[in-house]
Order: sequence, then C-alpha cells, then structure tokens
Amino acid sequence: MTSILPHGGSLVQRVLGGNEREALLQAAESFQKIAINTWTISDLDLIGVGAFSPLTGFLNEDDYRSVIKSMKLVDGTVWTIPITLSIDPQQASELNINEQVALVGETDGIVYGTLTVESIYEVDHAEEAINVFRTNDLEHPGVKKLLERSTTYVGGSIQVLNRPEPKKFKEFYFTPSETRALFAEKGWNRVVGFQTRNPVHRAHEYIQKSAMEIVDALFLNPLVGETKSDDVPANVRMNSYFALLENYYPKDRAFLGVFPAAMRYAGPREAVFHSLVRKNYGCTHFIVGRDHAGVGDYYGTYEAQEIFKNFTAEEIGITPLFFEHSFFCTKCGNMASSKTCPHGKEDHMTLSGTKVRALLRDGQCPPPEFTRPEVAKILIEGMAEQVTN
Ligand code: ADX
Repeated sequence: MTSILPHGGSLVQRVLGGNEREALLQAAESFQKIAINTWTISDLDLIGVGAFSPLTGFLNEDDYRSVIKSMKLVDGTVWTIPITLSIDPQQASELNINEQVALVGETDGIVYGTLTVESIYEVDHAEEAINVFRTNDLEHPGVKKLLERSTTYVGGSIQVLNRPEPKKFKEFYFTPSETRALFAEKGWNRVVGFQTRNPVHRAHEYIQKSAMEIVDALFLNPLVGETKSDDVPANVRMNSYFALLENYYPKDRAFLGVFPAAMRYAGPREAVFHSLVRKNYGCTHFIVGRDHAGVGDYYGTYEAQEIFKNFTAEEIGITPLFFEHSFFCTKCGNMASSKTCPHGKEDHMTLSGTKVRALLRDGQCPPPEFTRPEVAKILIEGMAEQVTN
C-alpha cells in the first residue's frame, strides 16, 4: 500500500454525485453564469478530483499573492503555480462575496461546477509573469497565455457537477483516488512518476529505467491538456507510448495514465508543481531531468532541479529524482550522462527537437540510439496525418 500522504494531508474530493449533485444542478439554474474555457475546465476538474490538493477552489487573493511572492499558500504549504479564475471585469462588478456562481463551458454550455465567491481582485500580469515565468517576454508561451486573460480574478471554493468527457483514450484517465487504489492493489510501495509532453525518446527511457531500478514501478503520466501548437499532439503521443510499453517495458512494473492539465511552460516552478500533483496521485518519487517544463532558452538546464533547494524534504513530501542531460554515447555503446561517461561531445548522439521534427516530417526515422523504431514509425504516420488534415 502506498503510504505517501496527499499534499496538505488529505485528498480533496469535490465532485458531487447523486441527490446532492441533482439539487445543486437545479439551484445553479438561477446562479450567474461564468463562461470557462477548456483550460479552466481542466483546472476545475483537477481541483475537484484532488489532483491539486490541498486546493479546494480557485486561489483567493491572499493565497494568490503569497504563491506569487513566496511559492507558498498563506498557511505555509508549498504551492508554486497560481491556479486562478479570471473573468470579465464587467461581470465581476455584478458579483457579491458569498454568492454562488455557475461555471459553464464557453462552447458547450455544460454546467461543469459552481464556485462560492470569496474574493474578487485585480492582478498585475507583469508581476505575475516575472515571478512565475521569470520573464515577461511575450514570446514565452506561458506569458502569452497569461496576457490574453483579464486581470480580474475571482477566488473561492468549488464543487464539480459534470466532469469533462475525454474525446479519446478514456480508459487512461484516472483520479488520484483511483491511481492510489491501483498502486495499492498491485502491491507497489514506491512508484516513480514521469511527466512528459513529448514522445518518449531513448533519453527519457533511460532516466525512467534508471529510476525503475530503485523503485517498484513507473507511472508514465503524460500531460494531455493544452500544449503549444508545435508540440506533438497528445493522440499521436499516446499511440507512441503504447508501442513503447508493449515492446520495451515490463508489463507488471509500468503503468500509463494521463495528466489532463494544461502545460504552463513555467520551468522550475512547474517542476515543483508537477511533483506535488504526482504525490497526490500516489507517487513516492518524481523524475526531474534537464530543463523540466522549460521552453526556448528561458531557464538554465538545471534550474528546475535547483529550485527544490528552497524547500525542506518534509515540505515537498515526494522525493524528486534529478537526472543530468542524457544521451547515447557511441564509445560507451550505451545511454549515459556526464555522470557516467568520460567521452567528449563528439561521441555523444544528441539531436535537437527541430532536427527530429524535420526528419520525421521527411518520413525518416531518427537513429535507433535516439528513438525506438516502433515509436518513430508512429510519429512519422502522425506527422503525415497532420499534414493531410
Ligand atoms: S516537460 O516539459 O514535460 O518536462 P519533456 O517531455 O521534454 O518535457 O521531458 C520530460 C522529462 O524528461 C523532464 O523531467 C525532462 O527534464 C526530462 N528530460 C527530457 N530530455 C532529457 C534528456 N535528454 N536528459 C535528461 N532528462 C531529460
């Protein structure tokens, strides 16, 4: 039985069912309606199922300011990414504290949940960007998204009434209570979580398997929420994970489940957030490699590891496993990192993301030392489909 406690001590459960749900759905008909987009629907749902424990809702003003400045909630619990609800200022001016509002999908009209308004506040996006992303450069995809939002935020606790329906791969969506129960059923006491927004190349496989040597199992937990448009689409990635697991991983020690959150590209702060969330899913360990959750040149290669020095092991709870930049070394004839390989750069096989994409687009497999051929085949097919669609 995995004994790791959720962040903050207990798993938040805010998805209503049965009569309670029916009653609130009916009451919500007369509430003010706030339109929410796919990103916010996923945040709402992840709060509801406890993936974002200890959050019970969208951040209130005091917690927001504390998270921005000191990476902690007001009560001292570590929390690095502001999970917030931004709304139209005109609509905000019509809300009252303690009022309940309905959170409604902007395109489908579904009432995903309700929120009790506890605070309405104005934020400074430049300040948020500098603190969270360490830049306010508009070219940064996270900053760009932030600046598209209104600067009026509403905080308060939520209830989930309808959960978003996955379009595909439904059987790979699990709540934290479900993964915790699954890990316990399999007898896994030590589970390492792996975050990715990419296909799993050999370097990823190497660090996963290095970690697997010291724990009971791997939870391959790809992020499938909103990503930037030039990232490989989640559907293609899912097929590539199936091929990889089928051919190269022991079935009784690797488990695939998706993380339906949006990617923030906040590098170091997101690495801590990713760890805390995987703790909620029941992982005891979490992999942080090179430039975790980074983009472009905004973060140093190991900044996402260094940030953990700001916290005690008890504050984080889950054990981060740090890995150096990994590659195939032709002299060693192995995957390696600078920690294990004495050879020079000329012996190391490294390919940039741009180069890999160009090869795949031309229908060419990257070398097997870089990507497993079964994975490359799926990526090539995926690219071809994207072009024809
Ligand atoms: S992320 O943005 O979702 O973090 P990505 O899917 O590229 O990015 O990486 C998943 C994990 O593997 C991250 O922890 C990242 O640091 C790590 N990683 C990716 N490539 C390498 C590599 N060549 N060497 C070591 N770690 C790596």
